[in-house]
Amino acid sequence: MKYKVLALAVLATIIYSCASKSSMPMATTPKEEIKFATVMTPELAEGKSLFENNCGKCHSLYQPTDYNAEQWKPIVLDMQKKANLDDAQGQKIYNYLTMQ
Ligand code: HEC
Repeated sequence: MKYKVLALAVLATIIYSCASKSSMPMATTPKEEIKFATVMTPELAEGKSLFENNCGKCHSLYQPTDYNAEQWKPIVLDMQKKANLDDAQGQKIYNYLTMQ
């Protein structure tokens, strides 16, 4: 039993290290390619257009990749007020910004 657990742990380590190696080239994939690879639901498309139509008024449009999900949360809460958007619209923008 102990050996089984050990073997599983070793296997998991090998799989994990292979997986992290194979994901390395992904980091250098151009943003456009990542966007096309992600399925855009109507809800996300709505978030995208809300974002593009409301969030570039006072400053140039930020990129979804400029911040991570953790960072976007307080920013969107703050900015949705500035843009006169309600919580549901803010949520859609947040979902779009963090879809990757
Ligand atoms: C009424 C003008 C206005 C609108 C509309 C607006 N912003 Fe801003 N935004 C600002 C100002 C002013 C700042 C700079 C400082 C601050 O208040 O945080 C800013 C800063 C930011 C920053 C940088 C924050 C940081 O901590 O570095 C981001 C990202 C951002 N806005 C995103 C958005 C998004 C997303 C929307 C749409 C929901 C939006 N903004 C709509 C005025 C606006």
